Amino acid sequence: LSCVGSVVALASAPSPPASPISSSILSLWTLSTRIADLLYSKVGSWVLRGEDQMAGVTMAAGCGVSQALSAGASHEGLRRIAPAFGTVVVPIPSRCKVSRRVKVEAIAEPIAKSTVRTIEECEADVVAGNAPAAPPVPAKPKAPEGTPRISPLVMPARPRRNRRSAALRAAFQETTVSPANFILPLFVHEGEQNAPIGAMPGCQRLGWRHGLIDEVYKARDVGVNNVVLFPKVPDALKSSTGDEAYNPDGLVPRCIRLLKDKFPDLVIYTDVALDPYSSDGHDGIVREDGVIMNDETVHQLCKQAVAQAQAGADVVSPSDMMDGRVGAIRNALDLAGYHDVSIMAYTAKYASAFYGPFREALDSNPRFGDKKTYQMNPANYREALIETRLDEAEGADILMVKPAMPYLDVIRLLRDNTALPISAYQVSGEYSMIKAAAAAGMLDEKKAVLESLLSIRRAGADVILTYFAIPAAQWLCAERI
Ligand code: PBG
Repeated sequence: LSCVGSVVALASAPSPPASPISSSILSLWTLSTRIADLLYSKVGSWVLRGEDQMAGVTMAAGCGVSQALSAGASHEGLRRIAPAFGTVVVPIPSRCKVSRRVKVEAIAEPIAKSTVRTIEECEADVVAGNAPAAPPVPAKPKAPEGTPRISPLVMPARPRRNRRSAALRAAFQETTVSPANFILPLFVHEGEQNAPIGAMPGCQRLGWRHGLIDEVYKARDVGVNNVVLFPKVPDALKSSTGDEAYNPDGLVPRCIRLLKDKFPDLVIYTDVALDPYSSDGHDGIVREDGVIMNDETVHQLCKQAVAQAQAGADVVSPSDMMDGRVGAIRNALDLAGYHDVSIMAYTAKYASAFYGPFREALDSNPRFGDKKTYQMNPANYREALIETRLDEAEGADILMVKPAMPYLDVIRLLRDNTALPISAYQVSGEYSMIKAAAAAGMLDEKKAVLESLLSIRRAGADVILTYFAIPAAQWLCAERI
């Protein structure tokens, strides 16, 4: 280990077990953390790189693995590659099947065994003018032939100085995005199989029993531990008053119970609105003359929120835009004893064309008209403050702006006018635009997605609802190297 250079160790590791919390893995994990830290203390500086295609995780630690963890590498992803670390110092028995390849690069200066001369002798040399030779002053890099010869501009400030290397740029980065900031929207249906959603390539309506659990497992593996559920309800259960919305055995309450049973610490958000349950495809009850009835709808929404809380929801999220629903839901939750269930209010939800693909996913297009009598006019900015003050006064815990990218100014407005956390919904249309452009070769998907998420954070959002949560989290884990 005191040598300089690169060692490649072939590691024989058992294939990753189905559950990352099995006791054998935990003990291997502890062992490998200790080995990694021990190696670090011996060598001083090295890079340990492990790759696990299955987990989609690439990580490296220029330090001990425990430090890499505290730097935010995915916990479950790391655990899955942990067995590989454990084999770094273990000779490979020839009968073992080689299933992992771990590259250990020791970038350490050879540690000098003993210094020949004392500090005083060395200092005396320097004082006498015999400073030891260091590499020569580097030559000035040449500009290409034909570059105009000019005298440099006289400028006190050159902002490019702080951007000139990756390390400087990282040091001065003002905004960051992390998988912990993501809430993953999940479409569920009654089926056994997942069904692709035409308008949202890469997204599926998940079979509530299996597909849903698999998807949540994948999300948690890369550090995404917040999900929000959207049900596709069979037509036969839809009605003009949307009563299926508060059926305690309906699709959403069943999904919540299943998820909580499997992943007790998963944070489950729910959607509170009647549209998936309404035969009219509106978020509220529609009167004969087409008016969406406010207070009667709020009555239904309260029952819906309580049913979701009863099933185990952590955060109920009214997306309906009826007046007074936040206060009424707060009251209903408290009366039913759910004081700890939070409300994420869709505070500034605009009547947007960008919801199109979502409505296809849930087959929830309004049967007539549009949603302009309850969702906000995209032309309005100040109005978002009216909604903010009301939702805050009515007891909302989180305020949302939706859509996100076309409304970054509104996110900033809310950020500057409330102390509550802000969420932003990168909606289906925003997702599909990037997907379509990337599929046509017009955009680099990874760069565009990460930039869009960073911009939403920069505008002032704490959390982002995004259909890109899983791939974005995978990219972010890999970038930490
Ligand atoms: C409905 C609801 C909608 C979305 C979330 N909840 C659609 C709508 O208001 O018509 C849109 C989400 C998206 O487009 O990704 N209450």
